[in-house]
Amino acid sequence: MAGKAPLCAFFLLLLSTSAAAIRPARSVAATARRAALENGLGRTPQMGWNSWNHFHCKINEEIIREIADAMVDNGLAKLGYEYINIDDCWAAYDRDSQGNLAANASTFPSGIPALANYVHGKGLKLGIYGDAGSRTCSKLMPGSLGYEDKDAKTFASWGVDYLKYDNCNNQGISPQLRYNTMSKALLNSGRNIFFSLCEWGVDDPGTWAGGVGNSWRTTGDIKDTWASMTAIADKNDKWASYAGPGGWNDPDMLEVGNGGMTTEEYRSHFSIWALVKAPLLIGCDIRSMSKETKEILSNENVIAVNQDELGVQGHKVQQDGDQEVWAGPLSGGKIAIVLWNRGSTKASITASWSSIGLNASTVADAHDLWTDGVISSVQGELNETVDSHACKMYVVTPK
Ligand code: GAL
Repeated sequence: MAGKAPLCAFFLLLLSTSAAAIRPARSVAATARRAALENGLGRTPQMGWNSWNHFHCKINEEIIREIADAMVDNGLAKLGYEYINIDDCWAAYDRDSQGNLAANASTFPSGIPALANYVHGKGLKLGIYGDAGSRTCSKLMPGSLGYEDKDAKTFASWGVDYLKYDNCNNQGISPQLRYNTMSKALLNSGRNIFFSLCEWGVDDPGTWAGGVGNSWRTTGDIKDTWASMTAIADKNDKWASYAGPGGWNDPDMLEVGNGGMTTEEYRSHFSIWALVKAPLLIGCDIRSMSKETKEILSNENVIAVNQDELGVQGHKVQQDGDQEVWAGPLSGGKIAIVLWNRGSTKASITASWSSIGLNASTVADAHDLWTDGVISSVQGELNETVDSHACKMYVVTPK
């Protein structure tokens, strides 16, 4: 017995200090997934826009209409971005005399049904925000706790297509109970409504939310900083095996274009979110995007990885200090890879075939999703130099 502990410690040390292979990409595919919510929605991660990251509570119906216009006019709608989601602060402070939620009369004077009509007229869908507590997080509007059936029917009658459901002021009642009640209410509402749980990962939703919602937040709120985005990517990674068609881990909405990160950092953010099958919900003001922001959000190669029909969440498969390899299987035997340099200087990163789930002898072509170039006939590993805080992303096709 005495000899075993040091040997064990040696292997642990080896794992933590060397280029540690974390889990081969293919093993995720074999993991049994949870039952999905039976509303047929979210077969691939949801794509669209949400008001919170850029506008917070400073929203009104004109902004929402203009965002819907911009989504179509700048070509994002035809790439798959379809939901226009209004976050917190759209409603009046109190319910109306019949106990119904009502739009804030000064910021949304035409009401939500008119806005839904407008958005639908553009070929898009309208999302709204509620809370599984007594008031929402801003405290400026009522929550739906105890009003689930009533509110679900209201949303359905207004033509709402998506509900993001937050967790503030929850009276200490278990999330499973509160979210399940709204899930059932939505299923009975008479309209097929995408259900996005936002309980910030506090009660390990991956383990129970598969049959309750179409996506569930796994972390607290993202901030528009490199430190926040990278920490959230790591936190979300742990839940990879729970995602699949119908129910996705949600590491929070995109910050791309909001100004707090460099273009390369935003490219990394978008690449990793796509690879891990996160919802692609744009969080910037798409009415006035820079050329770089539009180029990132419009990369069809990267979007195709996110929307791949196999629906397996990619994850971190190799780590050597600040140099990481993230990968995941795609349909047709292809594999998506991100070489991610989280360090402060340029570095060489090698993805070995064994960590991405291929035999060392396999010969493959690697399509660079950002330059659109192809590296043909690579065998055993892919080695590239990657700038600080940047990434390179590939789809590898075995020959
Ligand atoms: C937070 C939520 C954010 C945003 C905000 C609105 O709880 O995580 O995404 O919805 O509330 O107040």
